[in-house]
Amino acid sequence: MKKGFFITIEGCDGSGKTTQWDLLKQSLNQNSNNLVFTREPGSTDLGKELRKILLNREDLILSAEAELLLYLADRVQHIKEIIRPALEQGKTIICDRFFDSTIAYQGYARGLSIEKIVLLNNIITENLKPDLTIFLDVDPNVSLSRSKDKNKIEFEGLEFQKKVREGFLSIAKTDISRFEIINTTNLSIEEVHIKILELIKKKSCKNN
Ligand code: TYD
Repeated sequence: MKKGFFITIEGCDGSGKTTQWDLLKQSLNQNSNNLVFTREPGSTDLGKELRKILLNREDLILSAEAELLLYLADRVQHIKEIIRPALEQGKTIICDRFFDSTIAYQGYARGLSIEKIVLLNNIITENLKPDLTIFLDVDPNVSLSRSKDKNKIEFEGLEFQKKVREGFLSIAKTDISRFEIINTTNLSIEEVHIKILELIKKKSCKNN
């Protein structure tokens, strides 16, 4: 039985999501051993191997369908090994990317059937859903101009990143009770951090 609180953080490449996840780790971890920081892909031993294939193997030809299945394999292992046990122990999980990334990237941007992805996700997650999803929203043109790691954004191209963003915004509209959108365009790293902390506090208090 799920007793904990499950938070996911989502965003396009270059949205500053991982910076925020790291900041949260520093500021929250000091006060609690009831928190688990985790991410996709690559949190389990299997996931680490899959991550190398998915993100560091430019020599490898990977069809969109095979890519989808590898992200799902990473997720199913992640849920079994880390997420479910922690939630059952009543812990709060803060996860950098989860199934909304698959819908946005493999569905909206890569063009695979969203309906089928949702179905597959429901099967492998056994309908486990985050209690709160924070989407860090920024126009990909802005992230490209401010990102230190432009390669990642440029690798798939701006059009791809725009489709990913549209994807996240559409998913958010269909699931408004779970989603919180922070538009980071005119905010500093510190201001975004404070907003995220406030949201987590507000939403997790409501749940307890
Ligand atoms: P990562 O290096 O973790 O960077 P970040 O999450 O900070 O952008 O890269 C993860 C990449 O994997 C990112 O480009 C999105 C992609 N991804 C998918 O395409 N589908 C998925 O289901 C997940 C979880 C990630």
